[in-house]
Amino acid sequence: MFDGGHIQMMDSFYEIFQRNKDWAARMLKERPDFFENLAGGQHPEYLWIGCSDSRVPANQIIDLPPGDVFVHRNVANIVVPSDLNCLSVLQYAIEVLKVKHVIVCGHYGCGGIEAALSGKKFGMIDNWLRHIRSIIRVYETAIDKVETEQDRLDLLCELNVIEQVRNVCATTVAQDAWDAGQDFSVHGIIYSVRNGLLKDLIHVKRDGQVEQGPDYPNIG
Ligand code: CO
Repeated sequence: MFDGGHIQMMDSFYEIFQRNKDWAARMLKERPDFFENLAGGQHPEYLWIGCSDSRVPANQIIDLPPGDVFVHRNVANIVVPSDLNCLSVLQYAIEVLKVKHVIVCGHYGCGGIEAALSGKKFGMIDNWLRHIRSIIRVYETAIDKVETEQDRLDLLCELNVIEQVRNVCATTVAQDAWDAGQDFSVHGIIYSVRNGLLKDLIHVKRDGQVEQGPDYPNIG
């Protein structure tokens, strides 16, 4: 009934149960009350809005355990006010969990950004990537000044983070919470898959005050 290929495929699926068992045992050994504590509820201080890319897993790259980061990920870490999924995550994180930090994390080498900059057609996803194409239009002059394709891509990855931070801040969710006196900040950071390190691009505080981080791009 099953051919060899199918059995092999199922093996790689069932592997996750073994890995899970080993992981849970390891966690228990380190902290016997770990799962018991988490079962009582979550109190994360961070909301992470990142890319779906398998190389950029939120908890791992900032070395935080389960329970510490509320996470939303999509292709190219885009925040648009028509996306009920993202807005629901944002609302829950801010209104119910009362996170202190909303973090938009982009990454260099993002396939979504590359696709948008290439101008090639990829089908359905082009509708999603339209959001990046509008950013290219806004920053056309700055992007055109950059000499190499690699540097243009890197800059667009950074600009996308900055624009998505602005989009978070402009949502009714963030605005209403700030108006009601709630204290949280929105941050834009970017991760390098080349060296595993984060860069600090931009911060928006409760009063709407924008602060450029040390790694804010020089766009003249
Ligand atoms: Co990506």
